[in-house]
Amino acid sequence: MFSREENELLTRVGPATAMGDLMRRYWLPALLSEEIPLPDSPPVRVRLLGEDLVAFRDSDGRVGLLGEHCSHRGTSLFYGRNEECGLRCIYHGWKYDVEGNVLETPAEPAGSDFKQKIHHPAYPCKEVAGIVFSYMGPREKMPLFPAYEWVSLPENRMHVVKSYLECNYLQGIEGDFDSSHTTFLHCNNLADLARLNRDGAPKLDAEETAYGMRAISIRKLGDEQSYVRISPFIMPAFSIVPGPATAKFEENDSRAFRFWIPIDDASTWFYILTMRDAPFSEDERASARSWIDARYRRIRNAGNDYLQDRELQRTRTYSGIKAVIPAEQDGCATESMGPIYDRTKEHLGYSDKTIIALRKVLLQAARRVLEGREPPHIITDASANDFSRLRALKGVVPANHSWQALLNSEKGVA
Ligand code: FES
Ligand SMILES: [Fe+2]
Repeated sequence: MFSREENELLTRVGPATAMGDLMRRYWLPALLSEEIPLPDSPPVRVRLLGEDLVAFRDSDGRVGLLGEHCSHRGTSLFYGRNEECGLRCIYHGWKYDVEGNVLETPAEPAGSDFKQKIHHPAYPCKEVAGIVFSYMGPREKMPLFPAYEWVSLPENRMHVVKSYLECNYLQGIEGDFDSSHTTFLHCNNLADLARLNRDGAPKLDAEETAYGMRAISIRKLGDEQSYVRISPFIMPAFSIVPGPATAKFEENDSRAFRFWIPIDDASTWFYILTMRDAPFSEDERASARSWIDARYRRIRNAGNDYLQDRELQRTRTYSGIKAVIPAEQDGCATESMGPIYDRTKEHLGYSDKTIIALRKVLLQAARRVLEGREPPHIITDASANDFSRLRALKGVVPANHSWQALLNSEKGVA
């Protein structure tokens, strides 16, 4: 059983918490590049790991992520003037650059060196794949940016969206390592018996890796064959999931890298970075975000009971929640647990084996940070920084073969 202490340890992410300190050791998505599209475009509020911040793009196109409240007397820099390579507070005109240097304090007497004595909180940023990443940990421990597949993929072969999740990040990411739910929650045709994942009680396995963990599900396909899916969990809260339930990778199959980023303890930004070997058209890009509004809120959300259709549920689909993508149904399952689920109340069965393994990996990492030791998958060696072939894998194998047979395929490694 999961104890209250363990639940607290894994779900609290603010400053000076174990999980918060752990997460701050990695480069994390802070916002999408499109939110601050142009030099000197309006700043935006960003809340990340319980900290209130403001992001802006300066006149040279560089991105800054600053503490929201002005170092003078606390006015929000969100309302600031973004001009001439800096963000200027509208109260008394203090001006900051992307690194948090105070460039001007115009209300102070001429010749004052006051500004040199102050440094405003600022986190380093890096834009990759349409996402602004930030590092919020100790400067002297800043790792290399891990070279995942999307770091070097041409822009036209990927797209990214984010959506707001009204609950703790752990509830979200646990869904990625909960293989059996796909048979139920995501069954959109009750009459369809030909699905590869019709076996709702898959055999499960999990294995710790240098990057985190790999989760394996094995579903029976008659007596002769098994359908295997392998999904990496990547420190500190990322996952890769295999595409649709097909036996092989189809030519246009996409793959998704998913980031579950705590806004605070009770809400999360969920980023989906979708990639494939052929370019995406503009129509495909538009439809990939047709399930969210302009503020990245899901159109189907808790406030409208996910527009659940009881007639549809009775006659056609398991959940009654129509979905452009399965994440809309996941949102109902995970948000309805409450903002931070009390895991002392749950009853875990065999089907939760990979979730138990995931929690163990996270608990170990959080405890390492508490003890002052290094967490896993902190990249400091440039010669070991190549994760471009790290993928989710799937395939049909003879029933007497082990899943390990799939670990290294022409489609990648897991
Ligand atoms: S409060 Fe920002 S300049 Fe005074
Ligand atoms: Fe799901």
